[in-house]
Amino acid sequence: MANILNGKAVAQAVRARVAAEAAALVRTTGVTPGLAVVLVGDDPASAVYVRNKDRACREAGMASTTHHLPADTSESALLDLLARLNADRTVHGILVQLPLPKHIREARVLEAIDPAKDVDGFHPENVGLLTIGRPRFVPATPAGIVALLEAAAVDPAGRRAVVIGRSNIVGKPAALLLLHRHATVTVCHSRTADLPAVVREADIVVAAIGKPQAVKGDWIKPGAVVIDVGINRLPDGRLVGDVEFEAASRVAGAITPVPGGVGPMTIAMLLDNTLAAARRAAAVAAGVKDTP
Ligand code: GUN
Repeated sequence: MANILNGKAVAQAVRARVAAEAAALVRTTGVTPGLAVVLVGDDPASAVYVRNKDRACREAGMASTTHHLPADTSESALLDLLARLNADRTVHGILVQLPLPKHIREARVLEAIDPAKDVDGFHPENVGLLTIGRPRFVPATPAGIVALLEAAAVDPAGRRAVVIGRSNIVGKPAALLLLHRHATVTVCHSRTADLPAVVREADIVVAAIGKPQAVKGDWIKPGAVVIDVGINRLPDGRLVGDVEFEAASRVAGAITPVPGGVGPMTIAMLLDNTLAAARRAAAVAAGVKDTP
């Protein structure tokens, strides 16, 4: 049986560390880390995510403000709000929850966030910094994946990593982080020929497809580490990942459960990014040169 990678416990430890460091920042600089979360529309899953981010922020001793705008908000009204948040010195991190309504151009919005406040790491400047190996803000879900691997003492160096999914939020940055940790990385997607054969080669599998139980247990190489990013609700109400958990856990060396694996890590890493943004803002205010 596989070692179950307990994301809930690792996330709790990260959150406790972030809370202690946030308290120290307040004590030493008077700066309270502040996150602004922007939610447009009424997607129920997004509303749950946003509520959880807001609560986690407060629990870590940070300030959090949620701006909930109606679904018919114009792109220019959203850009106006972002300009105000960019200029607000009490706001260190800005997160626009995705997906946005169809009439709003996502790229235009993400580019309007001050890169120094882009705690999601989605601004092209931060994507570029990550790509060249000088990360400023690492997107929270991929950051959570590598933190989980570290907590389980899994060193990707020299291993074959297969990332299934090529999204800007998870697949691409996860592949880069594994590459920077010296894994041999393959990125698979909907057009990949013979996906099972590629996955069978993997020492580390990252499944970020968004399809329930699409990765079958008999695709997993014995002893492989399986990171399941999927959160899918079945018609019977059960939450499952992108991997067939029962079958995969019989062959894997380690595997993340759903729920309780990658999910809790995402929020923890967002808090970590918000703390880092506040730290940098406090250092800039104190006259220290900005890095990077
Ligand atoms: N939607 C799904 N995942 C994310 C995320 O990590 N950040 C934001 N802003 N929206 C998301």
